[in-house]
Amino acid sequence: TELGKKQFSPREGFGSTLGVIAATLGSAVGLGNIWKFPYITGENGGAAFIFIYFACVCFIGLPVMISEFVIGRRSNAACVGAFKRLAPDTPWFFTGLSGVICAFFIMFYYTSVAGWVFAYIFKALSGSIVTSDPKVAEQVFTTFISGIWSPLIWQWIVLFVTGTIILAGVKNGIERMTKTLLPILFLLLIVCVVRALTLPGASEGVSFLFQPDFSKITGVTILAAMGLAFFKLSVGMGVMTTYGSYIGKGESLIGTGIKVVLADTMVSMLAGLAIFPAVFSFGFSPKDGPSLLFMTIPMVFNSMPFGQVFLSIFFILASIASMGAMISLYNAPVAYLTEERGWSRGAATIFTGVLMAAIGCTATLSNSLLSDVTLFDMTLFNFYSYLTDNLMMPLTGLVIALFAGWRLSRWEVSDEISNGGSLNNKSAIGFYLFAIRYVAPIAIVIIILNGLGFIKL
Ligand code: PHE
Repeated sequence: TELGKKQFSPREGFGSTLGVIAATLGSAVGLGNIWKFPYITGENGGAAFIFIYFACVCFIGLPVMISEFVIGRRSNAACVGAFKRLAPDTPWFFTGLSGVICAFFIMFYYTSVAGWVFAYIFKALSGSIVTSDPKVAEQVFTTFISGIWSPLIWQWIVLFVTGTIILAGVKNGIERMTKTLLPILFLLLIVCVVRALTLPGASEGVSFLFQPDFSKITGVTILAAMGLAFFKLSVGMGVMTTYGSYIGKGESLIGTGIKVVLADTMVSMLAGLAIFPAVFSFGFSPKDGPSLLFMTIPMVFNSMPFGQVFLSIFFILASIASMGAMISLYNAPVAYLTEERGWSRGAATIFTGVLMAAIGCTATLSNSLLSDVTLFDMTLFNFYSYLTDNLMMPLTGLVIALFAGWRLSRWEVSDEISNGGSLNNKSAIGFYLFAIRYVAPIAIVIIILNGLGFIKL
């Protein structure tokens, strides 16, 4: 076909297969695994929620991720330009724009939490969170986030550090950093898991994670599970489209997607195993929300030899994990402004950072000054998170699915996924096409309508 002939010349991208995995996994693994996954699972009742989350990851998240890789690599452009190249003179490029806007909204609250994590490195080092009293652990955290200046300044520091890395454009630095640090994070999580599992009463946490009670599942829960799947995998907003454009022509897109999804899910499960046994053992509630990580992890380490050292290392690694995600988020608007609008890298970086700080402060202050300000019954912090997880990412993901499944020709998609016919993966492509044309779009629509109460299943 006409469309199928469109091939764009390669531009600068990731150097190796391992580099591709490191960068995409670096974007996927983040506070989502160690902070959001446990607390959302806790709020939604545990094992049954995880089961649905996993189904969303396989049947919605993975196909959308592969589609983003296809769109990015085929077009060789960042998320807005990608749609303009593959479907010139059509409104499809709005998909990319909504991704850029979504990146802003996520950054508003993500940098706030990353600020807490950064601050906790120093609190761990100074010993101020080493306590054996759960009440004290809770007190320290609440006092910290309900302050004004200190969480704000930490948020700005986080933005500044991320901005500096973006400005330097050190893709290689990040690639190399994540490659060495992710395995360490993995090991450290295993240390936490072992410690948590040997705490008295740990089994209650394990059954919370593995014994599903499907009676707790409602439309709202399913929507939350799908939202978490989008957030976790960094899909439904153009970040992976942009990264897809850096992937070399010889890499397997389906293989990359599957590896990232499996590794990411494994990290989340480990985080769950490190946190829930401790939650029950120390008498916290799984429903404690965003503060869960900050209260239980210090307790987990407190009772072991060199706990303070391990605790500091844990928060250092968590902050590094958050950097990979934030870089991919910060990169989205910067890539758009530089590649599409002709801005200089410096101007784009500063503009993006200042805007993120200016509006992002409302997320941080929603634990103090702005705690009374609510939108749809949510604090601003919760609103940004709800809006992006449950609406913006799924809807953008829906349009991405429709684009890859119906707008691009079957031939074009097969050609890209099989690397021009050199990979013999016909049946995998068949599965993918079925998922992206029918399963994902229909599921997304039903889950959103059901979650918002427009239909009742
Ligand atoms: N996936 C990241 C995490 O789990 C967050 C993220 C969302 C990053 C969307 C990029 C885009 O922490």
